[in-house]
Amino acid sequence: MTQLLDKVAIVTGAASGFGAEIARAYVREGAKVVLADINYDGAQLLAHELGSAASAVICDVTSATDVKAAVKHCVDRFGVPDIIVNNAGTTHRNQPMLDVDEATFDRMYAINVKSIYHMTRAVLPLMRERNAQQKDRGGVMLNIGSVAGIRPRPGLTWYNSSKGAVNMLSKSMAVELAPDRIRVHAICPVMGATGLLEQFMGVPDTPENRARFIATIPLGRMCEGADVANVAVFLATDASHFLTGMEVPVDGGRII
Ligand SMILES: NC(=O)c1ccc[n+]([C@@H]2O[C@H](COP(=O)([O-])OP(=O)(O)OC[C@H]3O[C@@H](n4cnc5c(N)ncnc54)[C@H](O)[C@@H]3O)[C@@H](O)[C@H]2O)c1
Repeated sequence: MTQLLDKVAIVTGAASGFGAEIARAYVREGAKVVLADINYDGAQLLAHELGSAASAVICDVTSATDVKAAVKHCVDRFGVPDIIVNNAGTTHRNQPMLDVDEATFDRMYAINVKSIYHMTRAVLPLMRERNAQQKDRGGVMLNIGSVAGIRPRPGLTWYNSSKGAVNMLSKSMAVELAPDRIRVHAICPVMGATGLLEQFMGVPDTPENRARFIATIPLGRMCEGADVANVAVFLATDASHFLTGMEVPVDGGRII
């Protein structure tokens, strides 16, 4: 499988969940991938599994310094990236909006939204310079937004709004970066069984509680890592080179 042969990618939050599946799929398709995560042990474990096409770097995406260092790590190891996946994310627990304290709100916005500001400032000048020299080169940024930013559930108000910001900034970036041949999309998954699931549900992760949420998804199951990874591969390949600024629901029909 060679859809991403010789492409270089950075995936944030790659140590687990959707990010890990995206990284696995990218390596399967021939890309070289930097796994940037605050969970260094997890990122290293995955890098070990994936072999020489993957490299782990510790990175707290809320820190401009860390994000810059992760980009430098990528340039030193594999070259200027072609693909950026801003996937690292977190949520507050599902609860009434007044119960979410200020520190939790700030941390969540720093991880879900401001991280993309840091990444863009670190990587865009390099991608622009490379694209200016090599007219056949472009680039792709995929931001993991959420269906929560399109069709919100109660109890997740501040999280929903952070993902609404991710969805919207992706469209705005797509317009602004089109002249640089950099395409930008928001990928918007529905609820999946990752490390965040219990927080999203706000109740214990039991078969009965899962069933209540699954009942709101027409195709009758939660989102799996492979669902997100398949879309992240397609949107990064040249096969989708006329697509930009999309808000792509990976949601089994939840937003219908
Ligand atoms: N699971 C879902 O139901 C769901 C639905 C829609 C969108 N999303 C989004 O998908 C993305 C991936 O989440 P997931 O569901 O795979 O959860 P996850 O908890 O399995 O993975 C999140 C990863 O981000 C990393 N991370 C957290 N804070 C970080 C920081 N400050 N710096 C660097 N890395 C950090 C974690 O270590 C972890 O590896 C998130 O943006 C999330 O909001 C998840």
